Amino acid sequence: MTNTLSRAVGTPLARLEGPAKVSGAARYAAEYPQDQMAYAWIVPSPVPRGRLDAVLTDPAEEDDVLVVLWHGNAPHLEKSDDPELAVLQSDRIAYRGQPVALVVARTLEGARRAAQVVQLDITAEDHDVELRADHPDLHTPDEVVPGVPADTATGDVDAALATAPATVDVTYSTPALHNNPMEPHATIARWDGENLVLYDSNQHPSGIAKTLGTVFGLPVERVHVIAEHIGGGFGSKGSARPNAVLAAMGSWVTGRPVQLALPRQAMFSMVGHRAPTVQRIRIGASLDGDLTAIDHESWTQTSRLFEFVESPGVVTRSMYPAPNLRTSHRVVPLDVPTPRWMRGPGEAPGMVALECALDELAIRLDLDPVELRARSANPGYLTCLRRGAERFGWSGRDNRPRQRREGDWWIGTGMAGATYPANAMPSTARVRALGHDGYEVAIGAADLGTGARTILAQIAADELGVPVEDVHIRIGDSTLPVASVAGGSSGSASWGWAVTGACRALRESGDDEATFDTTELVGKMPTDRHAYGAHFAEVRVDAVTGEVRVSRLFGMYDTGRILNPRTARSQFIGGMVMGIGMALHEESVLDPALGAWVNHDLAEYHIPAHADVEQIDAEWLDEPAADLNPMGAKGIGEIGIVGSPAAIVNAVWHATGIRIRDLPVRLDKLL
Ligand code: MOS
Repeated sequence: MTNTLSRAVGTPLARLEGPAKVSGAARYAAEYPQDQMAYAWIVPSPVPRGRLDAVLTDPAEEDDVLVVLWHGNAPHLEKSDDPELAVLQSDRIAYRGQPVALVVARTLEGARRAAQVVQLDITAEDHDVELRADHPDLHTPDEVVPGVPADTATGDVDAALATAPATVDVTYSTPALHNNPMEPHATIARWDGENLVLYDSNQHPSGIAKTLGTVFGLPVERVHVIAEHIGGGFGSKGSARPNAVLAAMGSWVTGRPVQLALPRQAMFSMVGHRAPTVQRIRIGASLDGDLTAIDHESWTQTSRLFEFVESPGVVTRSMYPAPNLRTSHRVVPLDVPTPRWMRGPGEAPGMVALECALDELAIRLDLDPVELRARSANPGYLTCLRRGAERFGWSGRDNRPRQRREGDWWIGTGMAGATYPANAMPSTARVRALGHDGYEVAIGAADLGTGARTILAQIAADELGVPVEDVHIRIGDSTLPVASVAGGSSGSASWGWAVTGACRALRESGDDEATFDTTELVGKMPTDRHAYGAHFAEVRVDAVTGEVRVSRLFGMYDTGRILNPRTARSQFIGGMVMGIGMALHEESVLDPALGAWVNHDLAEYHIPAHADVEQIDAEWLDEPAADLNPMGAKGIGEIGIVGSPAAIVNAVWHATGIRIRDLPVRLDKLL
């Protein structure tokens, strides 16, 4: 029904909030004026492990200071399922940068100054921050993600590897990486009587209201989380972070609204990171390239507070149908901040190892890397490989390395597959007919800057049979109907499904208002469905300096129906740009002696700048996955970073003949 009537979905509508953003009218979390606002600044632990015995401070010395909170005087919090939120509750220090005190002052400058001079009486203890594949404390987690086992095995991998005519046995490593959205985490907290109001930059207003309710012992109805505009998150804003709890605590104690905006440096400690990984991958194949066995082992780290497991092996369970397949995950708790989600958690590092190892296999077999993958590809993936190769101009490639030189530059091309699960999560939407004013569509979703608000308006317009201008979208507020997280590339599918349901219910009932909850439908959704794609890269490597430039990067995707080609393209190429960063630039360096991330700002943590991105483009098949959800959409937010780093690493080999297995590919490794 909707496909034939569709007018808005599929058109490149510009983001509805664009004018408000570029004119400065759009407000982000830290920008809501409050009466009597106070400002908070975190005092971070200067050691990675130990005990805080006392905070020695004389607030009278700093006129501005209202209070200095620490475990000796902070309000008691209830336990949530995230121990990282139990801020200022104990004397234990679990990582360097952990909040050990909070200064609240009348001015931002006063809070910052006082936080710098507060005296901490700390007993430091020996620490261990080094991930090694032979670490004695490595263990097998119960699960890597709820419901997803740490280890799997089918067939007889050892026997198949022992008898395979061709094998590779290689170890790849990926460094710790940090989410660096444009807008650092920020909260303004205010207590209206016993109701908590939070302006907070996050990916999940409904979930964060629930979590803050748990922490402060309040029913969720008494917590109001507002996240109208968000300057990115990449996973780091998917759950409540300590800043939200600290701001609420500071406001409770001082009786004033409290703003807590993290400086960029704090983004490297308390809001998560992509854990470093070491991955050994073994592949067995016939001489013509049929995969007979894959063994993918990985080692990673977590904190002492919470076991978060980066899961590179999961993607290997579904990418290629090898009859003998084994995957395993080992994790070690260290004195480091808790790792968390970062765009394509698991898949992004996992596909570095798998897709680079496949490239090494193709070289061993003297097969074209596209043809090797094509032998094992499902239909959607196969189409991406074929069309992507055609669009990129892959055919005629000389598979030998170090064959093409122009001036000082070695030129090479490489490719890799891409995938991401097609997820949807339960959500509820409400639609109201407003007479001549059109329709209000309300859902507690969050728009990270991706275009979620715009796409929901397009979906609603088509379902209601009205122009987009007649649809008023309300999102970014926990008092709206409960919605799932803006994560796991699931937002459009989850929220669009609820919006579709509510609009259809309104039309069918003829009422002025309708609400639709997708819980039951999502429970019946086909599982194990994925989006697929193929990435192609051309690099040039300076023969003298080792500098790597990505001259071309192209992605071809099978991601179901594309709801808005303009915002979709931004998601694809945004993911690919992050893939350039993962391949060449980004690396969080942990000093083993200090237990500190030493490059904790954007001057030293290098994300790709405009000059690092030359020709980049994405295309898609745009074939609706009608059995998945009413829009026929699969997620697109993460697939761009899954596989694109491997395509670049493989292209660097093709240009130079040098195989880098330790990311990022820095120029010193090529000299
Ligand atoms: Mo994303 S790492 O699923 O928020």
